[in-house]
Amino acid sequence: MAGLLEGKVAYFVGGGADICRPTVKKFVEEGAKVVVLDISPTKLSEFNGMRDVITIVGDATKLEDNEKAVKAAVDNFGKLDTLVGCSGTWDFFVRIWNIPKEKFPAMFDEMFSINVKTYLLATRVALDQLIKNKGSVIYTVSNAGFYSAGGGVLYTATKFAVRGSIIQLAYELAPDVRVNGVAPGGTITALSGPKAVGMDKNKLKDLPKIDEVIKLITPLQTVPKPEDYVWSYVFLASEKMSRTVTGEIIEAHGGLGIRGLLEVYGMQTPERFKQWADAAYQILKMYEG
Ligand SMILES: NC(=O)c1ccc[n+]([C@@H]2O[C@H](COP(=O)([O-])OP(=O)(O)OC[C@H]3O[C@@H](n4cnc5c(N)ncnc54)[C@H](O)[C@@H]3O)[C@@H](O)[C@H]2O)c1
Repeated sequence: MAGLLEGKVAYFVGGGADICRPTVKKFVEEGAKVVVLDISPTKLSEFNGMRDVITIVGDATKLEDNEKAVKAAVDNFGKLDTLVGCSGTWDFFVRIWNIPKEKFPAMFDEMFSINVKTYLLATRVALDQLIKNKGSVIYTVSNAGFYSAGGGVLYTATKFAVRGSIIQLAYELAPDVRVNGVAPGGTITALSGPKAVGMDKNKLKDLPKIDEVIKLITPLQTVPKPEDYVWSYVFLASEKMSRTVTGEIIEAHGGLGIRGLLEVYGMQTPERFKQWADAAYQILKMYEG
């Protein structure tokens, strides 16, 4: 049986990402051919030996590296019709008063470059192909593209910018190109932070009790895995599944938008609430300390 993405050619920007690697693999299983650009050779080595995947080590904030990726798709696979934005950097919830003033401009530039410029620049470079092939664009947003406290103010600002870009581009590129997003929730990955403030050495997955935190705050009580998102991306890339969908973002973070005012979820009985509050208190104290 033909896969859902048979005949498609996708460019994954920052596609070595922990969150996107299973999606790259699923795209191939569903019949797509894929070019993955990432700045990390180690991340890209995870695709070694995979059929129908070309990897390119490069910096997606650079025009020439995006051009290389688009050319690789066209030269090797004949065209490009799908763009998936994955690159990202996080700010580890840093409060604005804890960002040193003298480092603020560089941190701002780095976060917006990686989180926003890479997606928009890749889209600009791929545009002729996307329009010609009536393709689609899918950006990785975050719960932080909708709600406070998924990071600090810079991460939240970048993800709202990604969300705004989806809305604007869906309008500008209709009717030829569909533009949508996937918003993962807290996921235990190697997501790191900007060099400008030395956060490039930190990794989300090393935060103490991070899996417990994610579960505690999530109405569905899930700790999402990268594999949980693959069908959201496939759905949006396949016009068979979603040809009438554009300007939309699949919020796949376990229901943060329907959190209650007191309880996290409706079936949180007073007993469960007390357990939750005790655990949350311990974690809060640990993060503050
Ligand atoms: N992990 C989470 O909890 C979470 C939640 C919501 C959204 N996200 C988003 O998911 C996406 C993937 O993050 P992840 O958690 O898999 O972390 P990750 O660190 O594994 O992925 C980020 C990827 O971007 C690449 N990258 C960074 N700068 C680049 C550049 N200039 N050029 C090319 N590649 C570059 C990195 O090498 C890495 O492979 C990001 O956009 C992130 O904001 C993550």
